[in-house]
Amino acid sequence: MQPMLQSSRSHHGMYRPGRPLRALLLTACLAGLPGMATAAAPPPLLLGTAWYPEQWPQARWPKDLALMQAAHIHVVRVGEFAWSTFEPRQGVYHFGWLERAIREAARHHIFVVIGTPTAAPPAWLTSRYPQTLRVNADGRRAQHGNRQQFSFSSPLYRKFCRDIAARLAKRFGHDPDVIGWQIDNEMGPPSFDAGTRRRFHAWLRRRYHTIAALNRHWTTAYWSQTYEHFSQVPMRARGENPGLLLDFKRFVSATWASYTENQIQVIRRYAAPRQFITTNTTHWGDQFDQYTISRELTLASWDDYVPGGHYRWLENAVQDDLVRGYKRRDFWVMETQPAFVDWAPVNAALPPYAMQELAWQDVGHGANAVLYWQWRSALNGQEQYNGTLVGPGGEPVPAYRVVSAIGAQFALAGPALAGTSPHSRVAMLQSYASRWAIGFQRQTVRFGVVREFTAFYEPLERFAQSVDVISPNAPLRGYRLVVAPALNVLSRAEARHLSEYVRAGGHLVLGPRSGMKDPYDALWTERQPGPLVPLLGGHVGQYYALLTPVPLAGALGSGRASVWAETLVPQAPGTRVSMRYGKSNGWLDGKPAIITRHVGKGSITYIGAWLDPPLMRTVIDELARAAHVHPLLPDVARNVEVCERTGDGKRVWILINHGHRAHTVHLPAPASPVLTGGPVRETVVLAPHQVNVLLAPLT
Ligand code: GAL
Repeated sequence: MQPMLQSSRSHHGMYRPGRPLRALLLTACLAGLPGMATAAAPPPLLLGTAWYPEQWPQARWPKDLALMQAAHIHVVRVGEFAWSTFEPRQGVYHFGWLERAIREAARHHIFVVIGTPTAAPPAWLTSRYPQTLRVNADGRRAQHGNRQQFSFSSPLYRKFCRDIAARLAKRFGHDPDVIGWQIDNEMGPPSFDAGTRRRFHAWLRRRYHTIAALNRHWTTAYWSQTYEHFSQVPMRARGENPGLLLDFKRFVSATWASYTENQIQVIRRYAAPRQFITTNTTHWGDQFDQYTISRELTLASWDDYVPGGHYRWLENAVQDDLVRGYKRRDFWVMETQPAFVDWAPVNAALPPYAMQELAWQDVGHGANAVLYWQWRSALNGQEQYNGTLVGPGGEPVPAYRVVSAIGAQFALAGPALAGTSPHSRVAMLQSYASRWAIGFQRQTVRFGVVREFTAFYEPLERFAQSVDVISPNAPLRGYRLVVAPALNVLSRAEARHLSEYVRAGGHLVLGPRSGMKDPYDALWTERQPGPLVPLLGGHVGQYYALLTPVPLAGALGSGRASVWAETLVPQAPGTRVSMRYGKSNGWLDGKPAIITRHVGKGSITYIGAWLDPPLMRTVIDELARAAHVHPLLPDVARNVEVCERTGDGKRVWILINHGHRAHTVHLPAPASPVLTGGPVRETVVLAPHQVNVLLAPLT
């Protein structure tokens, strides 16, 4: 839980075990009364918006902020593209306007997150110092007039970033109404300029020490790639030796990490520790390793967009869980759409009910704030069509009403949710190295790593109703089941970590393409799953990209697999075959498709194929049951999402009906409906698309 929320606790009457439920509710409700927010205590659950005061006359600000206040908005993110307003000419700084905007916001009980403006350098900078401009992979330099046109490794650009971040932090680092900082905005594109290339070579030298070691790990004898010096190594993001490509991604991750740390350091120097530091990330973003970037941040946050307007709740849920895993704690949704965006092929609007479902799903999965992008459209500029809460004339648009209703619900539920987070007994392992490695060499265009990950996630989330998505290096104690869908790159250290988990009684499930490569993207000679072969007591005989589905059957059920199939070879006497391929392409016929080995109280299972959804469900359900995983609430309809947050002596269920029909949910204990009020109940009837939040003591 971020420090900000802790600071609010004394104002919101935490539940102490033993207090009767009615007292718990009364305290929670009183704390949620409108107008109770003070500079020292932001509400525990925040509704917000991206606000660009620099684009509007100051005389207009009170009206905007009053409209926000009426919609229960308690946080605005400001400043993240305002460099040319902060520093219109080199060395000339204007921060007074932001000071006034913050004061005005505070008068409306609205807190502020300041974005450092470094995603959009001003024209004086790019024209006077063109060497700071990013160079694309094709060698062309970016131009001014868009954003993200800087080179992420340029020392000169970083000096300017550090300077503006330091000045902002000196001025606002102890401002009681500033609760946090966002570094840059959706960082992503690398640069291919000469300086970056030199730094890539230096990075390689630190990693390999000698060029001979690099040549060995990358097997450069292949195609005469052998290098005499690090300076000969090309810098490319595709169409290269896989060892090089993987290291380039790691270098990019390290460079974005040092890019953010450059600003984090100065903000930390001048700002109060209660102010969090985050950066907003894109959905499923794999431009860099998010775990590396998140290390120095206090809070993970992401921009939750459904660009085409077609909200598939499980596809969104997995991304919330992914972001919760960056720091293995609660997070923020720093941006989401007021109905629609402007950058999809068809920018269809989310239905109003889906906006509500999405916001509550974010909260259910661990978000403590949901901010809408954006408040009001700039009259000109590239994003005139994106959804807003008020129109160009400043009057509310239809999305405003929907967001206000969500805000009213947040105000009611915030006190109940304060101090709570999701806690899962099931984890999925997500590895950037593996995603990248498969992406470089898909072998079949049909193998989308995110799709395959989601294919495992969906039945698991439906069964367990709570899944952590974490790095393969994260601690695994306490998880009953750990699933790694395609852990393609597997180091010996990671394999040891996973073996220890199994030997301690954990249940590990590996999906197809696991354990094929070492950390240098070279093939393990013992075949898949590489250093886990001894634990599994078996290995992959051969892999096949599929044109048509293949049949499978065995103790775990029967069905079909598509896209990818591997034959398995059990070696150890205790390794059992639980499913075999039927007659198919001749290579797979009759061969083992799933094998399991029990190791003490734990087990390791290898699933060699991308199972079709019904079979995946059967297999995952069976493996989860065998690992003693229990749903949070059993027998819930397929379209009802169950989220649970616990902490501070409270258990909060967030029930979301994503379907068009009413459903009844039975709770294991009496709970109070937080949004609707009314008596304590054990049975909840959810109308179509209804959200219900229920509070019970944690027993
Ligand atoms: C985000 C970005 C915002 C805005 C928004 C439009 O990805 O961070 O600045 O461009 O998209 O939907």
